[in-house]
Formats: sequence, structure tokens, C-alpha cells
Amino acid sequence: MSNKKPDTSHTKLNTDYLVIGSGLAGLYAAHYASKFGKVLIVTKSTVKESNSYWAQGGIAAALDPEDSAVFHSEDTINAGRGLCNIEAVDVLVKEGKERILDLIELGMVFDSDEEGLKFGLEGGHSKRRVLHAGGNSTGQGMVEFLISSVEKNSNIEVLELASVTDLVSDGKSCSGAWAYNQEENEYILINAKATVLATGGASALFERTTNPDGATGEGLDLAYRAGAELMDMEFIQFHPTAFYSDSGETFLITEAVRGEGAHLVNREGKRFMNKYHGLGELAPRDIVSKSIYDELKESGSKYVYLTLSHLERPFIIKRFSNIYGLCMNQGLDLTCDLIPVAPAAHYTIGGVRTGLMGETNLSGLYACGEVTCTGVHGANRLASNSLLECIVFAKRVIDGANKYFETSAGLNIEPGQPGIFSNTDSKDQESFDNIKNEIQNLNTHVLGIVRNGADIKDYISKLVSIIEESRTLSGWFAYKILSMGNMSRLIAESALYREESRGAHLRSDFPEEKEDLKTHIVNRLGMEPYQVKL
Ligand code: FUM
Repeated sequence: MSNKKPDTSHTKLNTDYLVIGSGLAGLYAAHYASKFGKVLIVTKSTVKESNSYWAQGGIAAALDPEDSAVFHSEDTINAGRGLCNIEAVDVLVKEGKERILDLIELGMVFDSDEEGLKFGLEGGHSKRRVLHAGGNSTGQGMVEFLISSVEKNSNIEVLELASVTDLVSDGKSCSGAWAYNQEENEYILINAKATVLATGGASALFERTTNPDGATGEGLDLAYRAGAELMDMEFIQFHPTAFYSDSGETFLITEAVRGEGAHLVNREGKRFMNKYHGLGELAPRDIVSKSIYDELKESGSKYVYLTLSHLERPFIIKRFSNIYGLCMNQGLDLTCDLIPVAPAAHYTIGGVRTGLMGETNLSGLYACGEVTCTGVHGANRLASNSLLECIVFAKRVIDGANKYFETSAGLNIEPGQPGIFSNTDSKDQESFDNIKNEIQNLNTHVLGIVRNGADIKDYISKLVSIIEESRTLSGWFAYKILSMGNMSRLIAESALYREESRGAHLRSDFPEEKEDLKTHIVNRLGMEPYQVKL
């Protein structure tokens, strides 16, 4: 590495709302904020490359006359294993219906038939209440709908291929962010009245994941370094049915296939879910993942199978056209072949601790979508509640920021220096790949579906040396490993702290739930983890 001081000359931008991230939460926040002022969306990739874009499952809302927000709330709370923030759940299920009706009014089309909206069933839901768009391309449908509205909106500017390197913060407030534009090789200091983090989750910290590569929790790291609280980091949700191949190639096979009657079978071709839970294949997600884990441990196999061969072929091809195509690419016919599946990291339940208006402990900093933790999902998120959370809390974040503007006198925070990306040296690519693979592999083995204290302790010491090692890398490579290492450390430390098994967090050395751990674990820079009750 050169000792020459890097050139950080930069341009400056001012905006009312800086939205970092362009998944469903970011786009919805931008769309709604544009009614009140200027919005700048900054995304490290392109607007189409978000986790939401790939969401197959759908969006849950109690819109069927046979259903009610009360039932939806009960199912969410049951799945959450005693840790749901009840007020947040109430907001989600009630306002969720309103937000979906708003979108329909704006022209968003959800799948329907001559009788009206079609409702799908997924694990943990007591009613059919999951709406879809384009069969199993719901995330794509919603994201594209909002992109078309954002593109037409003169109050919204989008900066693509720009990585936010740091928030501008004095540990109490936030007044914007530093970004690095990869195409122009240029630093940008963005001054914003409100900064909204909508950067998604961290499941790509794991080797087997349903998330895109970039989902390594950089937004969580930005917030943490700026002094924001992170909560419930130990709760990583594993999706039970990600496609399995020896090459490591994987893709999500939506829970909706089980909602339509698909069975899980072991290598003897026998169904096994009924021996673990009365709801069989439609048990809550944590239970299905753990049951598959147990089956695999017992049989020594790396996967179980999904079978749809007893269902109507034309129906499968129409309803799951996307997955049908993906399986065909692997030489398998979804309608009649056994499809190998195994759990994969899917959703980050923990995140930046926020109140019901998306506010964080830093004034001026807000967050919505998967990057946050309001406690709405408790210890285990109910399927298809995440797209709903995005739209409900994205609106609230902007309402919260608008209230804050009424009293805030404007901030004057010394911006400091941005993280340096311009000196990134491609010769570090191989070392970077090796360290990244090592972190992802260790996360999968130590922080996977079943964890234990001794292994987590060893891993935390190892992470300290991995983080040290990363300091020899240049620019973006060092930044990225440091971020991945630090976020893995927080997951590990919280997992060590939670000496019980609850929802998505299972400890072989503490197999029971404990009453005194019906609390949330909070991490904050420079402090030991602490517990809060909501
Ligand atoms: O199975 C799925 O389609 C996933 C849904 C979700 O994560 O909410």
C-alpha cells in the first residue's frame, strides 16, 4: 500500500431526504417523501439489484373478508416466540392493509381471478392471505412498479453505482453521508435533513444464502460505526428450501409451493414433517428448517427433497413459472422430479434498532425494511411479512422525519473523511476472495441453524485475527472485509450472549427457552451488549 495521502477532493450535494438503498423500502420511502421535498436515492448497484427484487413469496395482508388483522397479528406473534413488539405488530397488520390498497389504487396489479384478489398460503399462517404479483415474482412486480413511479418523479434523483462509505455523525445526530461514485472515481459529501437507511440485510455473510452477493450488512455496519444501536443480531432466519447442488449454486424455492401442497421427503422418499409439527410442511419456518437439519444429521445426507408430482402439472407451470424454469436449467422438472433442497440463510431479523416511526437513537437517522429491527418479527419472522414491513414502515419513516423537521434547527456536524476506495488495488482480489470465503464458511458452520457456546467463543477469537489480516488489503477490499468481519462478530457475540434456544436462534448447549431472556440484546459501538424489554 502506498503511504501517499489519498486525494479525497469531493463534490457536495444537498437534499431533504437521503435514501440509502433501492429495494422496496427505499423506493417506497422515496416515492412518499417526494410529496414533501427533494429526495436523493443512493445505491451501490442499480435500482433493480435489491433483495426485494428477488422476493418470490409475496406480501401478507388480511384483505380477505374471511380473514382479519387480529388473526394476522396472532399468527405473527405465535411465529415470533414471545419476542414480538406487540405495538409494531399492530401497526404492521392494520396499516399493511391500507398501504396495499393505496398501491392498488395507484395501479399496482396483484394476481387475481374472476372472484377478486387471489390469496396464497404459507407456513405459520392460519388463513390464505399472501398476495402475489406475476405468480412468484412479487418482489420484482412491486419494485418495478415503484421504479416506474420514481423515474417519472422530478423530485427524486437516483445515484447508482455509488457506495456510501460513512454516515456523517457526531455520535448523537446524523446529517447525511459520504459516498464514493465508482464510475466517476469521485467522492460526494451529501448533506441531508433526514437520512434513511434502507440497505437490506446480511444473509450473504453466509455461504449458502438466498440473497444476492452484496447483502452483507454494510448498512448495519454504517449505522453501528456512526453510534446507532443494533438489536437482535443473533436472529438469522434460515429458509428451509433453497435448491441444493454440489456446485454450491442455489436459488430460493418459495414456501408457496408447500402452501399449494408440495411435500418434503427424505432420501427414502418418506414425508417427515408430521413427526415434528402438527402443521407438517406448513409449520413456522424455524421449525421446518430445524426439522430438515435433524433429518440431514440423522441420514448424513446434504439435502432432502421437495416433491410436487402429486399436483396438477399445468397449474405448477403457470403458478411457479420462474422456479420451473430455474429447475429446468438444472435438468430437473419441477412437476415430476424430486427437487433437492436444504436450508440457507435468508433474512436478517435483527438490525438497526428503530421505534415505530423508524427513528434511531441518532437524531436525523431513520431506517426501514430489512436493515431495521423494530421487534416486529420477534425471534422468527412470519413468511411474507417482510415486503409488508417495507411499505408500512417506509411511510412511517417519512412521517417521522417530517415531524422531526418541525423542531430541528438543522445540524452542523464536522463531516470528517470518507472511507477510501480510490486506492483499491486489483492484485488484492485473490486474498480478498479467500478471506471472504473463510468468513462465509465459518458463519455457516458456527452461526448456522444450531450453534454452541464453545465454537462461538473460538470463532470470535478467530474473527479478531481475520479482521487484523484485512488491514493489509487496499481500499474497498479492506473496507469490505472489516465490515463483514465486524457484522459477523456482532452476530456471534449476540448468539453467545443468548444462552437459550428461541425461534431462529438454537443453542445445542441451551436447548430450552428461558423466561428471563424474553428480552432483546442490543449492541452499540464501544459498549458491552445489553438487554432491553420492549
Ligand atoms: O418462501 C418464500 O417465498 C419466502 C417468503 C418470505 O421470505 O417472506
